[in-house]
Order: sequence, then C-alpha cells, then structure tokens
Amino acid sequence: MIWLIGNKGMLGNDVEKLLKERELIYWASDKEVDIGDYKALEKFGKDKKIKWIINCSGYTDVDKAEEEIDEAFRINEDGVRNIALFSAKRQIRLIHISTDYVFDGRQEGTPSYSEDDKTNPINIYGKSKLAGEEEIKKILEKYFIIRTAWLYGLQGNNFVYTMIRLFKERDLVKVVEDQWGSPTYTMDLTGAILKTMEDDSVSYGIYHFTNESITNWYEFAMTIYKKAKRLGLIESNKKVEIKPIKTEDYPTAARRPKYSVLSKEKIKKVFDLKLRDWDKALEDFLVSLRDNREDLESRVEK
Ligand SMILES: NC(=O)c1ccc[n+]([C@@H]2O[C@H](COP(=O)([O-])OP(=O)(O)OC[C@H]3O[C@@H](n4cnc5c(N)ncnc54)[C@H](OP(=O)(O)O)[C@@H]3O)[C@@H](O)[C@H]2O)c1
Repeated sequence: MIWLIGNKGMLGNDVEKLLKERELIYWASDKEVDIGDYKALEKFGKDKKIKWIINCSGYTDVDKAEEEIDEAFRINEDGVRNIALFSAKRQIRLIHISTDYVFDGRQEGTPSYSEDDKTNPINIYGKSKLAGEEEIKKILEKYFIIRTAWLYGLQGNNFVYTMIRLFKERDLVKVVEDQWGSPTYTMDLTGAILKTMEDDSVSYGIYHFTNESITNWYEFAMTIYKKAKRLGLIESNKKVEIKPIKTEDYPTAARRPKYSVLSKEKIKKVFDLKLRDWDKALEDFLVSLRDNREDLESRVEK
C-alpha cells in the first residue's frame, strides 16, 4: 500500500520504524532504485498496489551541491519529476519532503514564513529542492509537500552528533550565532507524515513542519552541551568553552539563509497536531541515546 523511498536516510529510517510499529504494509527502497531513472521506478513499482509514496530520498549535502550541481538537480529535480510522473500514472498520493532553504531568509525577528510566501533560494541545494517542488505542482494534484528544517535523528550525520563529538574532542568549540531557525527531531516529523496518511487527508498542498520555538546554532549547541552533560553523554569533568561567532567567521561553500523560521499554523490546524518545543524533542532524543549507548558510540567515536 505504501512505498517509502529513501528508507536508509536519516528521516526515512525513522519513517520505516514507525510504519513497522504500526503494522502498516509497505515496500521500501533507497539508492538501489535510482529515482533519477524513471524505468527503475516503473520496474520496482510493477505489480505492486501502491496508494501512497513517501519520498524521503534526496541529494542533501548542502555544501557539496555547490560543486555537484548536475547531480543535485538530477536527484532533487529530475528524480522528483520521475516520482511525480509515476504517481500520476498510477494514481498514487505523494508525500514529499522539502526544505526551508527554498527561502532566502529574513531579518531576525520578522514573521515566520508561511506556505504562500515568496521563495527565493540562495544556494544550489535550495534551488534544486524548489525545482522539485515545482515539478510536483505541475504534474500532480494529490500531493503533500512538507517543508522542514534543521533535522536530526538517530541515523545519519547531523548537528547534534557533530556537537557531541566536538565536545568530547575539544576544549573550545565555535558556533555561529546569527543564523536562526527551528530544529526538528525526525521522530516528530515522522509522526506528522503518518498522520497525513492515517487521516486519509485530501487537504493537498504545501505544509511547514519543524519543532516549535526559535533558536540559533550557538544556543542549540549550548543546550546540547548542557543536556548531554546532565545525561552523562559527555564526561562530567570535561569542560568545553562554546564561543558564539558570526557567519562571516565560518565560511562555507553554500550560503545559508539567516532567518528561515517556518510558520506551522497551517499543519497544526489542518491535521489537529500539537507540536513540541525543540528543546523538549532534543531531550527525548538525547535520552534515547543515553539508553542506547551503542548508537551514540557508533556515530560519535572514530
Ligand atoms: N537534513 C536536514 O537538515 C534537512 C532539512 C530540511 C529538509 N530536509 C529534507 O528531508 C529529506 C530527508 O533528509 P535526510 O536528512 O533524511 O536525508 P539523507 O539522510 O541524506 O537521506 C536521503 C536518502 O536518499 C538516498 N538517495 C540519494 N540519491 C538517491 C537516488 N538517486 N535514488 C534513491 N535514493 C537516493 C540517500 O542515499 P545516500 O546517502 O547513499 O546518498 C539517502 O539514503 C530530504 O528531502 C531533505 O532534502 C533535510
């Protein structure tokens, strides 16, 4: 009934976990069924009764995309077009994940972005993701595009793991303080994705989903440090100075929006969802790492 694309990625892994837990019938694929190849999609989907596709796959390396422009567009635009075409042909409803990087970022303290706000990506990744959104809108009527931001979860590289590793290795960690957003725990987003399906919703369109409340990378890092220390994920006698720096002092290949906070009013209202604050979700994630030490060690230790 469900085809989960990108099940080996950070988000896809948690989506698969919840599909299993809820005993839903699904098929799953990742890179072995290349979304850039329409024939590969047809071959995999042949003879399968599919009602929903959840697409968690994508080209997600924001900095590398500045060099690998063709590959970023091959996956995030052409691949998404293929999924949309396949969905249209087979009358499948599509849930696709997109990003806050379709926006250029506003001044700090200005209102958060609603789904109808003007997009204007400032890096290749954002441009390729927006191109994918446009393909879906052109081809399909029955779609949900869920834009999210600052994702972290058990599987894959993410900011939380990077910070814990640096806190173990270094005495000084510098973190950017002038980029604002809302972190998102993959488990929380997964809950929203499954709610869309379980409601059998026909309220198609674009939605925004992150955890609640706004922060910057520096404050996010400080909170990870304090919580990780309290939970024993970092040695209690290890002192680390965390220093706020400006974006100019931390050059990266891709430019990033300064203030890309997404408004969640629409998704909360339509799906009657209650969203948690990012620090509550982070606490849950860190507790699960404490209770499954081997997950943390395999991600953080070299
Ligand atoms: N991570 C974030 O902070 C963030 C923020 C906003 C939005 N998003 C969006 O959320 C979604 C999930 O992100 P994520 O962080 O979970 O991504 P991820 O961990 O990079 O997972 C993506 C998966 O897609 C696979 N994939 C790549 N190319 C493919 C292809 N041609 N055909 C089939 N599968 C392919 C990847 O395989 P390989 O790993 O082998 O390449 C990987 O397993 C993406 O759409 C992303 O754009 C992420």
